[in-house]
Amino acid sequence: MKKVKFNKKFYWGTATSGPQSEGFYNKPNDSNWDHWFKEEPERFFNQVGPELTSNVYEKYPTDIALMKKLNLNSIRTSIQWTRIIDDLETSSINQEGINFYKRYFQELKDNNIELFINLFHFDMPYELQKIGGFENKKVIDLYAKFAKICFEQFGEYADKWFTFNEPVVTVHAGYLADYHLPQVNDLKRAITVGFNTIVAHTRAVAEFKKVFKKDKNKQIGIILNLTPTYPASDSKEDIEASKFCDAIFNKFWLDSTIKGTFPKLLVDELTKYNLLPEYTKEDLALIKENKITIVGVNYYAPSRAKAPSKKMDKPTDLSFWFESYQMPNARMNIYRGWEIFPDAIYDIALNLKDNYGNIEWFISENGMGVENEARFRNEQGFIEDDYRIDFIKEHLYYLAKAIDEGANCKGYHLWTLVDNWSWLNAYKNRYGYIELDLPTQERKIKKSGEFIAKVAKSGEFDFEFKK
Ligand code: FCB
Repeated sequence: MKKVKFNKKFYWGTATSGPQSEGFYNKPNDSNWDHWFKEEPERFFNQVGPELTSNVYEKYPTDIALMKKLNLNSIRTSIQWTRIIDDLETSSINQEGINFYKRYFQELKDNNIELFINLFHFDMPYELQKIGGFENKKVIDLYAKFAKICFEQFGEYADKWFTFNEPVVTVHAGYLADYHLPQVNDLKRAITVGFNTIVAHTRAVAEFKKVFKKDKNKQIGIILNLTPTYPASDSKEDIEASKFCDAIFNKFWLDSTIKGTFPKLLVDELTKYNLLPEYTKEDLALIKENKITIVGVNYYAPSRAKAPSKKMDKPTDLSFWFESYQMPNARMNIYRGWEIFPDAIYDIALNLKDNYGNIEWFISENGMGVENEARFRNEQGFIEDDYRIDFIKEHLYYLAKAIDEGANCKGYHLWTLVDNWSWLNAYKNRYGYIELDLPTQERKIKKSGEFIAKVAKSGEFDFEFKK
């Protein structure tokens, strides 16, 4: 038995996003998700859409009281562009939306819960998607305006700000697959959107610096889903495939936002196949000048790569460079089809320490989605989610080990507080420390909630690897 310990200032909290928790109430604009659900409800699990979710719009006082009960000291959520902006063309303000966030954020402040704010969580306004989303430079300008409005309106409520959540997911799921709008499959367009997202990010960082000047307490960063990439074998081909996969999913985002550069391997390959996005000297200068000082790391599963099985003359999708590989006998979260591999948190930590100047970071998402959790309800009516407790403990064990070795990690946010809405999966898999009964909106603390309340209070827990 080992004691796993964290320092007193560690952030214990949870993560969510506006579109997945607030409900539709008084929103002047539809996001891609609102629109898609209206058009094709059958694409969403059990045809449950984003209109109600966990109704944080009305229930935030209840949820904040629950956070206090769990001894949590921080939370991350996002501001919805479609809620606070009225006319998307002119970026005029929707005062009702602003007032909602002010009420919510003030309640957090009054309860000493630190707010981390994110500005974009997969929720492109549909009107702007129609004109090309981030393929259109005008949308980059509008995003920068939206970011500036957020900094000005909500500056007093948060010190830690984030421009995007998991930008690679928007690119991959929307431009190389069919899980997000605009459901196109086009490598060149995907690369353009990836690059333009970095430009949009940097424009927001530049606005941030103008608004907050040299205020030392204010930090800006990005939230990345890092997937440490392991080759299927020691062969040269698999190792090469794995390096390319890492460059696309991790290094591109880390290098551009922390160092202001792009990975050479990627630039060389894209140049070779005429796939480089359009860019200007000003874009590159902006990226160089506006580096971040904090990173949020979402970690769920590692990535494993093998050499391509088919030979192609030129790339039409990523399988030109690598294919995903599933290790035989890997430990899996079968509900989500994700491998469970807690050791990778340690590798993420060392990568940030050794290759990114030991930048400040925190776990901004980690967690376990499980289907039909009602099976685990005990006689008293509470969900006994021991699998989630084990999952959290193992990840925290590797995190603490890395921190002991000098990693600059400041906190752990579970996805999520109260079971929330997960895009096409809707309420299929549940992630929270707290159960949500969707029709009645009743909230009930799960066993994992009781567990984290103790850990957050004492900063430690006993740990033993299960055989
Ligand atoms: C992450 C997303 C988050 C949530 C979890 C389960 O990739 O950031 O919105 O859906 O997955």
